[in-house]
Amino acid sequence: MSIAHIIAEETQYSNVKLPLSKLKTALTHIERLMAEHYEWLALVFSTNAHATKFFADMARAEREHERLVELGFRLAGERLDLTVCVDVLDLRDTFAEVSRFRSITPRPTLKEALDFSRDLEKHAAEEHLGTALASVDPSLSDLIQRLGSDDLHHAKALRTFGEHHRPEAHIALSVN
Ligand SMILES: [Fe+2]
Repeated sequence: MSIAHIIAEETQYSNVKLPLSKLKTALTHIERLMAEHYEWLALVFSTNAHATKFFADMARAEREHERLVELGFRLAGERLDLTVCVDVLDLRDTFAEVSRFRSITPRPTLKEALDFSRDLEKHAAEEHLGTALASVDPSLSDLIQRLGSDDLHHAKALRTFGEHHRPEAHIALSVN
């Protein structure tokens, strides 16, 4: 599913006011997208046991993020009608980038996969969204900011993994 399906009418604008209910849908899909991205990489590099385990662990962390987003917004209760200003194009670009990366042939090298994933984590929307939410729902803002700092840890883990494993020694499998 693309971000356009989630927030179709707003996608031509950069900063738009979204009700928290829609933001919840968008964020849930972003976390799921990240989980699926790492699950895909675990398959692509399934001949490399270290890489497979690493990407599977990252996927599990993103699934946990998805669960926390669901829970956090559920606790927001009636505040889900409140609106927050969001850079929708930023969210849409994340979706576009991930599907573009998957369609590249030949399959990415491990180094390319690590670099791309690190960029994704560094540019994840949570940091900005956490700040935007501060005046609307402080506890939700805290949660989203924690998820944002997790993303920065992920970016660091991706770099460390790349430094300690020789990516060129492994060949990516061709999977869909
Ligand atoms: Fe995440």
